[in-house]
Amino acid sequence: MSLDFRGKSACVVGASRAGIGAAIARAFKAAGAEVSITGMEDAPAPEDQGAFTYHQLDVTDGDAVEAFSAGQKRLDVLVNCAAITERGEEMVPDFFAQVVDVNLHGTFRMALAFHPALKASGGSVINISSMYAGFGSPKNPAYGASKAAVTQLTKSLAIAWAGDGIRVNAIAPGFIVTEQSARSRTDPAHVAAVNLRTPLGRWGQPDDIAGTALFLASDAAQFVTGACIPVDGGYSIA
Ligand SMILES: NC(=O)c1ccc[n+]([C@@H]2O[C@H](COP(=O)([O-])OP(=O)(O)OC[C@H]3O[C@@H](n4cnc5c(N)ncnc54)[C@H](O)[C@@H]3O)[C@@H](O)[C@H]2O)c1
Repeated sequence: MSLDFRGKSACVVGASRAGIGAAIARAFKAAGAEVSITGMEDAPAPEDQGAFTYHQLDVTDGDAVEAFSAGQKRLDVLVNCAAITERGEEMVPDFFAQVVDVNLHGTFRMALAFHPALKASGGSVINISSMYAGFGSPKNPAYGASKAAVTQLTKSLAIAWAGDGIRVNAIAPGFIVTEQSARSRTDPAHVAAVNLRTPLGRWGQPDDIAGTALFLASDAAQFVTGACIPVDGGYSIA
């Protein structure tokens, strides 16, 4: 058992902003995998340009998702990282629906589109959920609901596709320093409160998530499916 992904191919969806997706993509590449990444931006973050095959892909566009999956020859690992949230804006029904469309339906669309390829390779899916799948989130009700649903969907797909040899797991990150959390990190009291409550005493970095993604996709996790692993420095148990 090892974290050697030579000869394997991975696709990380939502890896264009040097956040969690990009850290996971770099880890798979360092472990020998052939890695493609996607995102909404025209191009990936400057440090990742040229490092990966990049596809601009909106996960709410079903036709585009189908065309993208049809163009991939083989896939061993699908990582669903694409998500949006906007603190304080999610009580607006149209925006609520958009958040759910990207975070939940987008995850489902991508998994479904790659189901045949993953079945052929005996591959695995890793969905990036959130600690907010389990907490109430008054400023981000759509985000919390969508992530709870992603965790639940992970369990359902794990059972549905076990017979196809596909494992489906999730990761629930805690507070991580990325563009998505940039606005909340402008509040020094919030930054300090997170540090104080987190048993490991700090915010997470994108790289903190990557090891768990490698483990879940590896043979070391061959009997793990339907799981959602918290990677939050202990915040959710404190
Ligand atoms: N940052 C955190 O504190 C934190 C905590 C828990 C969970 N997460 C989750 O981790 C994942 C990565 O988050 P991040 O902080 O790196 O975010 P990020 O904002 O840096 O990256 C989000 C990615 O999603 C893509 N995206 C957005 N809308 C899309 C759409 N319609 N179609 C396709 N792609 C789209 C963006 O292009 C980008 O690549 C997300 O699922 C997020 O919810 C983040």
